[in-house]
Amino acid sequence: MSQSTSSRSTWSNRWAFILVTIGSAVGLGNIWKFSYIAGASEGSVGIFVVVYLACVALIGLPLLMAEILIGRRGRGNPVVAMLNTARESGNSPWWALLGWVGIFGALMILSFYSVVSGWMVDYFWHSLVEGVQVGTPEAAVAAYDELMSNPLRLSFWHTIFMILATGVVARGVIGGIETANKIMLPLLFLILVLLTLWGAAVGDMPTALRFMFNLKVEAIKPGVVLDGMGHAFFSLSLGMGAIMAYGSYLDKRTSIGNTCVWIVVAGVFIGLLCGAAIFSLTFGFDLTPDTGPGLMLKTLPLAFTHMPGGRVFATLFFLFVIFAAWTSAISLLEPFVSWLTERYGIRRARAAWATALPVWLLGVAVCLSFNDWSEYRIFDRNLFGVLDHLATRFIMPLSGLAIAIYVGWRLGKVIVVDEIRLKQRAFTLWFNVLRYVVPVGISLVFLYELGGTALLIYVVPAGILLVFFIIKQVLRDWLK
Ligand code: TRP
Repeated sequence: MSQSTSSRSTWSNRWAFILVTIGSAVGLGNIWKFSYIAGASEGSVGIFVVVYLACVALIGLPLLMAEILIGRRGRGNPVVAMLNTARESGNSPWWALLGWVGIFGALMILSFYSVVSGWMVDYFWHSLVEGVQVGTPEAAVAAYDELMSNPLRLSFWHTIFMILATGVVARGVIGGIETANKIMLPLLFLILVLLTLWGAAVGDMPTALRFMFNLKVEAIKPGVVLDGMGHAFFSLSLGMGAIMAYGSYLDKRTSIGNTCVWIVVAGVFIGLLCGAAIFSLTFGFDLTPDTGPGLMLKTLPLAFTHMPGGRVFATLFFLFVIFAAWTSAISLLEPFVSWLTERYGIRRARAAWATALPVWLLGVAVCLSFNDWSEYRIFDRNLFGVLDHLATRFIMPLSGLAIAIYVGWRLGKVIVVDEIRLKQRAFTLWFNVLRYVVPVGISLVFLYELGGTALLIYVVPAGILLVFFIIKQVLRDWLK
């Protein structure tokens, strides 16, 4: 296997890396997924948000650092990075499997991610050329259903979006990915601030904030905890090799710890701002955030129709969503493309289009799963639901778990210390969280979800014992 480490690109500077990683993190997850999961956990949204924030801090941040560490140390695409670090640390080359799971998982996500992004391009286009005109909730739902029932229209916008994303990746790491992020992210942020202010002025911000941060413990619903964790993974692009691939272009001098704090804080901030803007409009116009992936598209157009300057607002809003989705989609494509170029020496542009083709095809099947093929179901989910569920509830948490075990327990302290140059205390804290809290946290949530409440009888006492053990261990290391 080719393991050339020469001629690899490096981001122009630390800020470029921060920018592209935020670009990957902030996406449909923060806008479309967040609003519909929050809407679905009605009554326990505050719990969902708190679990999400806790998971970001306790699981997301440490894992983000671990993933970047592997990428930078391994200096290659996720497969090669795993292989190189496994060799260097005397571990089995089988660990490279984790890289494979990542790059294929990312493509799997991309196939439906691009379809949903296509919806946004459709809505953007219509806002731009004819303005949104839906007078009643029924009309908004009908407009959405019409899009869903039309496989050609869905596939058309999905194709356009795939071309946009592939075009950027084809142009290279610096010329394509970095440049695209440098243009889109500042614009994205500017539009978001504008939209939030405007949304607060015409909408109902206090109710939105109450909705998002209301902590009614008694209203907790079973799936909320796993939803919160899954969302932390998804919105930080974890467990899929995307961050590993980006990390492999990071220069040696940059501090991984400091950089990650920036990424996480900015990602969470933008995500919450987005939620506030969306729900402020939703409540301001007396709409209910009901459930389902179509939530945003069924409610917001109504608000756009009735608010002052609605057409401009709508166009800007969908442009914002497209930018966010675009910068994320390229990070889903990059891992496999870099593997193809590094493994077979294929030119990047060719590798990018060759990767996009099967993903696009799977995406067309996803388009059909909303209409012509909607009766084909597995566990009562259409293809779209199956892919989403498999990726976010299984592959991401499990590969996150494997990454934590790999960096925490297998890689060896010498390599880890060499890459994560934090002050002693901060390092010890991070390392112990990665070794104990992350694996235990992921396993608990995962088992709980699998086994339901019955399992809690065993899991909770075991969890308490483990927590004691962790505290003891941390204190011991700390006092050393
Ligand atoms: N984080 C992105 C979002 O919130 C989606 C995404 C991009 C992603 N790259 C990823 C999710 C890698 C998982 C893994 O929309």
